[in-house]
Amino acid sequence: MSTKVYDCISKIGDTIEENKDFLTDLDREIGDADHGVNMARGFHAVVEKIPKDDANIGAVLKKTGMTLLSTVGGASGPLYGTAYMEAGKVMAGKTEMTAEDFSAILKAAIAGIQKRGKAIRGEKTMLDALIPASEVFDEKIAGGSDIVTALNAACEEAEKGIEYTKTIRATKGRASYLGDRSIGHQDPGATSATLTLETIRDFLKEE
Ligand SMILES: Nc1ncnc2c1ncn2[C@@H]1O[C@H](COP(=O)(O)OP(=O)(O)OP(=O)(O)O)[C@@H](O)[C@H]1O
Ligand SMILES: [Mg+2]
Repeated sequence: MSTKVYDCISKIGDTIEENKDFLTDLDREIGDADHGVNMARGFHAVVEKIPKDDANIGAVLKKTGMTLLSTVGGASGPLYGTAYMEAGKVMAGKTEMTAEDFSAILKAAIAGIQKRGKAIRGEKTMLDALIPASEVFDEKIAGGSDIVTALNAACEEAEKGIEYTKTIRATKGRASYLGDRSIGHQDPGATSATLTLETIRDFLKEE
């Protein structure tokens, strides 16, 4: 990924827009029915604000994070905002992204989300998709896979993570107010995180 960072982020925005109602419906079950709406608003602002032709991936990711932080609101705004800003630090000044960079991006994004949200794996959040995805991505890269193959495996783990969130009780965020009644529902944030990874995978596959 080089000067196409704008294209990749705008594809993520398209995916969020296409799944806006789905994500909002998931959040209606265990939250306040705003996750898709929040994220779509954020990405509309991002696509307007980030430069189309800036090759500095780090700078574009940083701008993306800052825009999400200031426009998405709720729990997911600061969390996704932090994730993209941490990704921006990893990519500071870089115009190409290697598999090792993407590994570092995932780890930095997760660390940022955890620092901000104080959640661990198993609390029915976006982390239940992202952490297993990051782990398997690293395993695949260490085993010699290319970035798209590793991302395919990561997306499969993220999908499994979504399924896992159906089986557990939420202990963080608004869904935790429901206690055991949150069981049986898939987590909206785990779903948007998986959609994001799948969009990046598809984008890199096309390249
Ligand atoms: N502490 C946390 N750590 C990681 N992810 C979290 C945390 N709290 C919530 N989330 C994620 O955020 C998603 C909900 O995002 P949403 O945009 O609906 O914010 P919200 O919960 O409605 O925010 P608020 O309750 O502040 O209005 C959840 O599905 C979950 O994945
Ligand atoms: Mg919500």
